[in-house]
This record gives sequence, structure tokens and C-alpha cells, in this order.
Amino acid sequence: MKVTVVGAGNVGATVANVLAQKKFCSEVVLVDIKDGVPQGKAMDIMQTAHMLNFNTRVVGVTAQPGDENGYAPTAGSEVVVVTSGIPRKPGMTREQLIGTNAKIVKSVVDQAMKFSPNAYFIIISNPMDSMTYLTLKDTKLPRNRVIGQGGMLDSSRFRYFLAQALTKAGYAASVTDIDGMVIGGHNDKTMVPLVSLATWRGVPVTDFLSKEELDDVVAQTKVGGATLTGLLGTSAWIAPGAAAAALVEAIAMDEKKLIPCCVSLEGEYGEKDLCIGVPVVLGAKGVEKVVELKLAGDEKAQFEASVQAARDTNSKLGDALK
Ligand code: LAC
Repeated sequence: MKVTVVGAGNVGATVANVLAQKKFCSEVVLVDIKDGVPQGKAMDIMQTAHMLNFNTRVVGVTAQPGDENGYAPTAGSEVVVVTSGIPRKPGMTREQLIGTNAKIVKSVVDQAMKFSPNAYFIIISNPMDSMTYLTLKDTKLPRNRVIGQGGMLDSSRFRYFLAQALTKAGYAASVTDIDGMVIGGHNDKTMVPLVSLATWRGVPVTDFLSKEELDDVVAQTKVGGATLTGLLGTSAWIAPGAAAAALVEAIAMDEKKLIPCCVSLEGEYGEKDLCIGVPVVLGAKGVEKVVELKLAGDEKAQFEASVQAARDTNSKLGDALK
């Protein structure tokens, strides 16, 4: 599979680095506007090829917005991962990036579409739910081909914090034994970690953790990105990059994995004309099924609040949607 990764910043380079080591990936094209950076990162990754034993070709390409042929080297990509845009700084919300990043994402998607009209698009740029919606509207692609990455990452953070809490409570739990899902928007305030469905090897975590302990896990999961931004001075990249690569892998290998992704709802969960995180089956045809969970009580109300927040952010897309 040929994959294009747009944006050779920390997240984009991590996506390329993880994909380089996957057997299903024959070529990764890393694109950026800063000359030298995509080439340098591609070269750095390629210099691990012998040590890590992979044959993927990773190439770096510079392309300016509006440059007609800038994306020619990306031609025929089966998946395009969009990481372009500015990252948040400590204290900023993802939503504050919308004005700048909407223009960037629109121009990137237009250029990539020209050379890879059959590609699946994976959107990471923030505010991710709105950037996914913008991509869907801009490209007019069917919804199975426009996938926002947020739920994979947030669910992974949720599992990590659950394992930490179980360990603190004396159970020494391994992260890979934890199952848990986060739905809703990729938003510090309104993402919805589904405590009622979280398990430790199939046993509900509610059997082991108190309400206070679980509330703390939920709170930490929601601000997982902001915590890392505070620690690092910029947004995280290792887990976000790995999360996007996992979505590419699910498509490339036709894995039919149940993963929460940001997708366009067409009546599911009672919503339309909105992209938000819900569980989907991800396989060779991209989003092959949107799975409706029976949400009840608090979790239903929280999902509705997340829907409202995503709609509010979309309303700020303004001219970008034209
Ligand atoms: C995060 C950013 C990448 O959650 O959205 O770390």
C-alpha cells in the first residue's frame, strides 16, 4: 500500500515512522511546506531500515499551497493521512485552532484529492471533528472514506488510566488486558469515556474501582491531550501517530476492527450532518459499519452534550465550507 502523510511535524513523522515498519506499506510519502523537513525526516526514518529490517520506501516532498503539481509524487495513494496545521500550546483548546487549520486542511485535501481520487482520508488535524466534517463537505466523498482519528487515541488513554487506577488499587493490571472505549468529540470537556462498558479481561472495572476512582480516570482521560501539552510545551505525538497508523493498518489489512472513529452520522444516534466519534467497523472499505450503542442515563446525556459542542465548533468553520 502507498500512503501519503501530509505534515512532517511530530505527529506526521511518527505516523510515517510507525508505517515504515509495517509489511503492508510499500511506500510512504511525507509532505510538508517547509523544504528540507520532510526530506530530512524521511531520510532519518530510512536510516533505521537496516536496523529495524523493513523495505518500505519513505520519501519526503515539499509542496506549497496551491502548487498545481506539488502533490504529484503522492499520486495513487490508497490512504492519505492529514496532520497539517498548527498544534496547540499549553493552555489552548483544540477548538482555538480552527481558523488557521481550516484553511490549511482544505487546501491540503484539495491538492491530495487531485492525485489520489480513490484514497481514504484519515484526519488528525485539530479541532479534529470539525476538520473531518470540513473534509467530508469539501471532497463530497462518501462517508466511508473520510475518517477522523480521535477515539482510537482517547480510548488508548482511557485504558492506560484504567490500568494505572487498577494497579494503584492493588491489582497490578496490564494495559493490554483492559478494554474501554471513548466516544463523542475529541474535546477536553465533552468526550465520553464509557465506564459502563470498560472491562478488565471481560470483568466490569466497576467491580474493582470505586466511583471516585472511576471519576478520576474519566477526568484524566478527558484532559489527556492537555496534560501532555502542559508537560511537553506542544501537543503529544507518539500515541496520536500510533493511533493514526493503527487506522491505516485496519484498512490495509481489512481487519474489520471495532474502533471509535469520527464519522459522518446519517441518522445513527439520532444525528445528521455531523461528524463525531462513534464505534465503527474499519476494514478494506474504510468505515464499513457504524455501530449504534444503547446509551443510557448519564452517558446518553454526555454524548448529547458532545454533539452540541461539535455543532458549535462546526458553526465556526464559516467560509471554509464554501
Ligand atoms: C492530543 C492531540 C493530538 O489529543 O489532539 O494529544
